[in-house]
Amino acid sequence: MEKREQLYEGKAKQVFKTDDENLLIVSYKDDATAFNGMKKGTITGKGVINNQMSNLLMQYLEKKGIPTHFVEELNPRETLVRKVSIVPLEVIVRNISAGSFSKRYGIEEGIVFDAPTIEFSYKNDDLGDPLINAYHALALKLATAAEIEQIKQYAFMVNDSLKAFWASCGVTLVDFKLEFGRLTGGSIVLADEISPDTCRLWDSKTGEKLDKDRFRRDLGGVEDAYAEVMKRLTDKL
Ligand code: TMP
Ligand code: ASP
Repeated sequence: MEKREQLYEGKAKQVFKTDDENLLIVSYKDDATAFNGMKKGTITGKGVINNQMSNLLMQYLEKKGIPTHFVEELNPRETLVRKVSIVPLEVIVRNISAGSFSKRYGIEEGIVFDAPTIEFSYKNDDLGDPLINAYHALALKLATAAEIEQIKQYAFMVNDSLKAFWASCGVTLVDFKLEFGRLTGGSIVLADEISPDTCRLWDSKTGEKLDKDRFRRDLGGVEDAYAEVMKRLTDKL
């Protein structure tokens, strides 16, 4: 596989073309941002951990019947993925109150929900990724009704699978953000990444935060937290 010109550079990843028009290479950076890029920093080793963790979790999810963009890990930081057009929705599933949910509705963090929730943000940095509902997504032509139904179904399947998997590692899956894409033929697959950047992961016994909130909230021990969750995952898989 030949790596060709850069197609796109995001806050945490670069995307390159390849000699196959249906395949792209994703390269994970150690750069970290928060609050729509207002806070910037580096988490040493994050690119390698996020690449490898995301690939392991996506392969796990494929086995559970969720199609993903994953093709092959090329090296510790880079992965070959199927080319998709990203549906401009951030799909957030929550099992426990935290973050913007707690802030918006004025409740403390750590309240376990009777059933998981789902919400969408419009993926648009200029607007600050505003919260929207499915009707708004349809009005904005971000996705079709059938695509939104499929995305919701996959998102809850991901939650069921990953909640159980992380529990077996002594980690509580509090919430996470997914992105989906359309393959050339139009079918929906899970894309982007699943990592401590995009999930809230709490130690099941102590409640210690083992994710990007350590960076967002200046809690320290960011690198150690990423390494700890990666170790727990690889010990299990
Ligand atoms: P929130 O509570 O800030 O809305 O975040 C919900 C989940 O989404 C949390 O696991 C972190 C993740 N997330 C991202 O992956 N990217 C983002 O830009 C934001 C704001 C949150
Ligand atoms: N990655 C997002 C940003 O820079 C936010 C976050 O993960 O908190 O803005």
